[in-house]
Amino acid sequence: MIYATRRATFNAAHRLFNPNLSDEENIDIFGKCSNPNWHGHNYVLEVVVAGEVDPNTGFLIDLKILRDIINKNILEKVDHKNLNLETDFLKGVIPTAENITIGIWNELVNKIPTGKLYSVKLYETENNYFEYKGA
Ligand code: NI
Repeated sequence: MIYATRRATFNAAHRLFNPNLSDEENIDIFGKCSNPNWHGHNYVLEVVVAGEVDPNTGFLIDLKILRDIINKNILEKVDHKNLNLETDFLKGVIPTAENITIGIWNELVNKIPTGKLYSVKLYETENNYFEYKGA
């Protein structure tokens, strides 16, 4: 088994809040990330595909194709966007790094042409990342 990783970065705004809770309860849970006037992060995404080397090409996956899949299905929907308001695959969920990571997995899992999606890793800050490998 060999693993290929494609890294991408994007900037996005969000607000963490649960509409079923009061503003005070939201501030208690989410702190500064519940600011009603939004705030942003510089996210770093790593998408890992696993599989076998194709003897005809020597590739696991053509990284240009993987780049284009990530651009079209993820970056166009999140980069310089408001994740609460503009990102279709995050409708109805609180856009925590956990939920963004799972949402990105769900968007990509059926779109990988060779090999299989192995993991999605998302850094929201230099010090924290989340990784999802499917249910
Ligand atoms: Ni935040």
